[in-house]
Amino acid sequence: MKINFSNIKKAQNLLNKNECVAIPTETVYGLAGNAYSDVACNKIFLLKKRPKENPLIIHYYNLETLKKDCKFNKRYINLYRKLCPGPITFILDLNKNSKISKIALNKKKTVAVRFPRHPITRNLLRKLDFPLAAPSANLSSRVSAVSASDVKDDFGNKIKYILDGGKSSIGIESTIIDLRSSPKILRLGGVEISKIEKILNTKIKIYNKPKKISSPGQMKVHYSPGIPIRLNVTKVREKEAYLLLKKTKKNKPNYFFLTNNGNLKDAAKNLYSTLRKIKKYKYKSIAVANISNKGFGKTINDRLYRASKF
Ligand code: TXA
Ligand code: MG
Repeated sequence: MKINFSNIKKAQNLLNKNECVAIPTETVYGLAGNAYSDVACNKIFLLKKRPKENPLIIHYYNLETLKKDCKFNKRYINLYRKLCPGPITFILDLNKNSKISKIALNKKKTVAVRFPRHPITRNLLRKLDFPLAAPSANLSSRVSAVSASDVKDDFGNKIKYILDGGKSSIGIESTIIDLRSSPKILRLGGVEISKIEKILNTKIKIYNKPKKISSPGQMKVHYSPGIPIRLNVTKVREKEAYLLLKKTKKNKPNYFFLTNNGNLKDAAKNLYSTLRKIKKYKYKSIAVANISNKGFGKTINDRLYRASKF
């Protein structure tokens, strides 16, 4: 992708003035603001209509820039070396003299950090004197945005600027992992668990349906296109959109295929844009055919399950 440096400059200028800007990442678009500024972080919560209890992910350029703010637990080092920058988020303990806005963290003593890989956002982060707080750029509890036009659909002109970086290459949020004590996955996402287990050489618990919510990505209602979803459907109702993993010979106008060949990684990438498309076509509900629960299928099913709680 060709990088337009004057667009990055524009985003940089607005962020320096504590404005919010939508930024592209390889997972989903983020709604970004200066993570050191209460003013900017407040704006993010207001724009997203996000409950203030739900802390923001903080995005850094690299480990050096992060070390002022949080304790980089060495247990993450192999994941950092092999997967970063990339679609994985680490839960770290906050440093006492951290400059991260208390509003961003809802006074929590831990912080979720990520090093996004998208070249435009990396370039932007390198230029800024502060990290970026950036939750997914969608209205709270709704489907994430994977293109500049998705962001525009959700926010209209309320966001000062959308830095366009094309369609997100992964299309699903980062995997969130906590290694401060026994390894826990708090959110399934852009890195498969098997890959993480291989790097760490250990089995890891998926901890995304706890009694006490420590990461609102764990909340039941989330990722919703705003219409009801039924799962594992074999008989689709009239006027219902039918979402299938793989193209079938039978093809009706209300059939939506996530892929031609059933590749689960591609399906994850296309999930949110397909849900948004179905909503745009004004279907009132969605029936989803069974999707294999292996690899990225686990992440897809996690999102659809939560979306079905609408
Ligand atoms: O791929 C991604 O992670 C995208 C891109 C933009 O980076 N961001 C994203 O942000 O998905 P958001 O806010 O939609 O989801 C972040 C999740 C939320 O469920 C939040 O509750 C959780 O991370 N989180 C934030 N701080 C946390 C903390 N200290 N402990 C546990 N979970 C935390
Ligand atoms: Mg989100």
